[in-house]
Amino acid sequence: MLSVSLNGMFFKNPLILASGILDESGDTMVRIARAGAGGIVTKSIGSKERAGYPNPVIYELPDGMGIINAIGLANPGIDSYGDEIKIAKTAGVPVIGSIFGSSPEEFVFLAKKMERYGVDAVELNLSCPHARGYGMEVGTDKELVEEIVSEVKKAVRVPVWAKLTPNTHSLIEIATSASAADALVLINTVRGMAIDIDARLPVLSNRVGGLSGPCIKPIGIRAVYEVSSELNVPVIGVGGVTSGRDAIEYIMAGAKAVEVGTAVYLRGISVFSQIVREMEEWMLKNDVGGVEELVGVAQRR
Ligand SMILES: Cc1cc2nc3c(=O)[nH]c(=O)nc-3n(C[C@H](O)[C@H](O)[C@H](O)COP(=O)(O)O)c2cc1C
Repeated sequence: MLSVSLNGMFFKNPLILASGILDESGDTMVRIARAGAGGIVTKSIGSKERAGYPNPVIYELPDGMGIINAIGLANPGIDSYGDEIKIAKTAGVPVIGSIFGSSPEEFVFLAKKMERYGVDAVELNLSCPHARGYGMEVGTDKELVEEIVSEVKKAVRVPVWAKLTPNTHSLIEIATSASAADALVLINTVRGMAIDIDARLPVLSNRVGGLSGPCIKPIGIRAVYEVSSELNVPVIGVGGVTSGRDAIEYIMAGAKAVEVGTAVYLRGISVFSQIVREMEEWMLKNDVGGVEELVGVAQRR
């Protein structure tokens, strides 16, 4: 009932672990797949090992609204990452290798390595909101986005997903520049900040971070709706998915699948089986036989 096929990959359900949450090590990726995720995206990996920013790197909003993070793209570097992919692949679900770079050449280099390591697809991080020279700094330059996507498409055979930022007034133009990708992933985190009024200073060492979780869901839904109405490229929805109803909302907005991040951080890995159960219950009650029947229905009224 929940299975989805996308870019020739089979997902037993449309819930994919989002990049950056318990997905740097092969072992945790296997655990999350066993807990019910239909697919896994790795932590974004770069050309070289990066330590990231000093603590504090995460601020939790009250009442489960979400979190603000500025980890700073900490990662072990691509050269030592092959073993983690090999371990993650034993879980039997599609593994998507997320990569970040500052130029088309760097993205091509990373995508080829990921392909050699055995990933089922690559996800281009064109959207991290707090890393100088990477992420949304690259991903809001339309010409550069177009060049990165087309060069990576030429260099690898696996599907190429482009993950875009909501921190722009030109979302449709950027999505159009990235439309040679096999799928567009919307959204990465929203730029935000929290201030500790007793210390009279921003909470995060980097000051600015990326806001995620339930409080950004309406921004993600709007982005998915607008882009999938405008372009003929599969869209994957991300941002605040915590329940079966949230996942169905993204699918009705036009998403073919969704990624789940902060909900895993706030609620633990059992959130996948819980969302699966809630989706199945809703679909049974509403006489819906498959996810495909729901994709984009909110656009047709
Ligand atoms: C702690 C943390 C680390 C993240 N790291 C990455 C990353 O390395 N690459 C990336 O593309 N997105 C990263 N993200 C963004 C998520 O993949 C996702 O797009 C965003 O958090 C919105 O989804 P959510 O509300 O389900 O978390 C990170 C998010 C969080 C909370």
